[in-house]
Order: sequence, then C-alpha cells, then structure tokens
Amino acid sequence: MKVGVLGGGQLGRMLALAGYPLGLNFRFYDPAPDAPAEHVAEQWIGAFDDREKLALFADGVDVVTYEFENVPVESARFLAERVPVNPAPDALEAAQDRLREKTLFESLAIPTNRFAPVESARDIAPAIEHVGLPAVLKTRSLGYDGKGQWVIGAADDARRAVEAARGAALLLESFVQFERELSIVAVRSAGGETRAYELVQNRHQAGILRETRAPAPNLTRALQASAESYVVSALERFGYVGVLAIELFQVGEKLLANEMAPRVHNSGHWTIEGTAASQFENHLRAVCGLPLGSSASIGRSCMFNLIGQLPDVSSLLAVDGVHLHLYGKSPRPGRKLGHVTVWAETDDALVERIAHVRQIVEPS
Ligand SMILES: Nc1ncnc2c1ncn2[C@@H]1O[C@H](COP(=O)(O)OP(=O)(O)OP(=O)(O)O)[C@@H](O)[C@H]1O
Ligand SMILES: [Mg+2]
Repeated sequence: MKVGVLGGGQLGRMLALAGYPLGLNFRFYDPAPDAPAEHVAEQWIGAFDDREKLALFADGVDVVTYEFENVPVESARFLAERVPVNPAPDALEAAQDRLREKTLFESLAIPTNRFAPVESARDIAPAIEHVGLPAVLKTRSLGYDGKGQWVIGAADDARRAVEAARGAALLLESFVQFERELSIVAVRSAGGETRAYELVQNRHQAGILRETRAPAPNLTRALQASAESYVVSALERFGYVGVLAIELFQVGEKLLANEMAPRVHNSGHWTIEGTAASQFENHLRAVCGLPLGSSASIGRSCMFNLIGQLPDVSSLLAVDGVHLHLYGKSPRPGRKLGHVTVWAETDDALVERIAHVRQIVEPS
C-alpha cells in the first residue's frame, strides 16, 4: 500500500520509519522544500490549497492521512472525494478551532476549563465575567507551541492582546492552576477497536513541550480510566480511524481537557521504544485497515525534546538506555530538532538515567 501524508515534518518522517517494516510506501506533501520527511520518502512540494496538485498527489496513493493539523479542511474534503482520508475531515475540523474543540468536549461531558469566544474588544467584558481572572486569551486557530496566547490578569491586558491579535478570532479561557499536565494517546481501527497508551506526564517551558514521562508518576487506575473514557468518547463521536491525542490538566484528582490533536503527538514519541506497537505504527495500521498492535508499555520511559540546538550527541549516546532521534532540521531558536527517549526497566533506574540525560540536554 502507498500512504499519502499531508505534512512532511518530523511526525511524518517517523510515520515512514515505522511503516517500512510493514511493507508500506509513502508520498509526502508539504509546502516546504526541505521538510524532514524528504530524507526518507517521496516528497511533493505544493501549497495545501493547490487542488490541481492535490488531485495528482491523490492519484496513486491508497489512503491519505495527515501529520499536520492545519491542513485546510476543504483540501481534506476535496481529497476524500478521490481516496479514503483518515482520520475523517470532520475530526480535523473540530481540532482546528479551539471553540469547536471546547464545545465538543462539553457535548461529550469531557470536563474542560471555562471558555468564551472573543471576536472584538466588545466581547472582553462579558467573556471575563463568564471565565473569571486570571485567564488565557488564545487565537482560535493556527496556534502551536504556545504561540498566539496571552495570559490575562486584568481587562487591560485583554484589550492589548485583542489589538495584538489583529482581528484573529479568539477564545478566552480560565487559567488553570494545575498540579501537572498529562496527555493520553489512543488509536481506533477501521473496525472500531480502540487501544489507549498509558497516561503520560508532560513538562512544558514557555509553551513548548520539554519532557514526557511514561507512565506518569503515581498514575492511578482511576486517572487512567477517566482519561481513556474521554479519548474513547471523542474517537467514537467521529467514527475516528487513526491516532488521537488529548492534552489534560490535572487539578486534584480531576482531569480537565486542554486540547486535542487529530494525529500522532509529541507526547507519544516514547512509544517507539516503550511499547510493542508505537503510536506511529498503530496510526498506520489503523488508516490502512490492518489490525492494531499492543499499546501496553514495556518498562518505563522518559522523552526529552531537543530544542533550538543539539546537545553533545556522544555524551547522550553514552548513557545506558538512550535512544536518539534526529529530524535532519537545521538549528533555530525554539525549533524541535530531535528527541531522546531514555528507557529503563524500573523507576529507580529511570530516575537515575533521567538525571544524567537532563544534565546533557539542559545544562544549567
Ligand atoms: N488555560 C491554561 N491554563 C494554564 N496553562 C495553560 C493554559 N493553556 C495553555 N497553558 C500552557 O501553555 C501550554 C501550551 O498551550 P496549548 O496546548 O493550548 O497550546 P498550543 O500552542 O496548541 O501547544 P501545542 O500545540 O504545542 O500543544 C500548555 O501545555 C500549558 O502549559
Ligand atoms: Mg498543547
């Protein structure tokens, strides 16, 4: 089978690397001429709204999927008239707009923080009234790595943020004083079977994911069960086929959904070494109509993103249990250049290795 992938970033590259052992072939589509998937597969360069090129792209692939969630929904629908597109464009549409996303969570009884749309300065006062302060004002679409977000302590901050947003549709949501951030990655097959990975703990810095620990320390069955029930209800709503991730805030014993991603997720990279079938493999199995693989963890893992510049690679590789993944991108501040997963059989061994890796990745 040949899989067409919209987006040729590192997620696409890792999809291809997981797909070759299954005998799959790939064709990527990305506007950038030097996207990370180009080193490992056939790459088409084109705009995501170039219908002529998209039609040619679809011709000769068996299924289309995405590794980038901001592909225009109309383009996904256009492709879906020609070739199966998984996950369905409806799920992509819901995940592209924070207002739709939060509304979806509410309709599925997935707890989430308070929110209100802000279209102009006039909406600020009623939105603050509903949401409370402090709050976060976010662009409804196209945000990533914490971009397009303003923390709001007072109505004045909100007025400045609305100006800075230059007419973009916004969402005000309550600032969550969370104990920690968690996320859940799950997959649904074409036949409707679902499998979830263990709940993981994420540490962000300046809006960018730095570290994912799997399983989340002190993970209880109750937390895992809640997170799984949330992600499964979202999967079922769309008759979803593929991998879906939900980012969560933990407050006491409660989980609040922050956002979802209709694709493989950075907090699931540890599954490459930490499970029998990684998120990348299971996404491909799902979209190609194959049976799913086990999502059960093997041992314990911690993933570190390599951001902005690469640390000393030899020192990293000298640590037992380290697996290095470089994406072939040139260094730039704030850019994800690769990741390291450190693996161990026991918590004690993992904690020791984490300290070692952290020193190399983030020397103080
Ligand atoms: N309401 C909130 N309260 C407290 N912290 C928040 C809130 N919203 C976002 N954050 C912090 O900012 C981070 C990034 O926010 P969010 O996930 O909404 O943005 P994003 O730009 O879509 O990020 P990404 O796509 O990289 O996950 C969160 O992981 C969290 O650390
Ligand atoms: Mg996020």
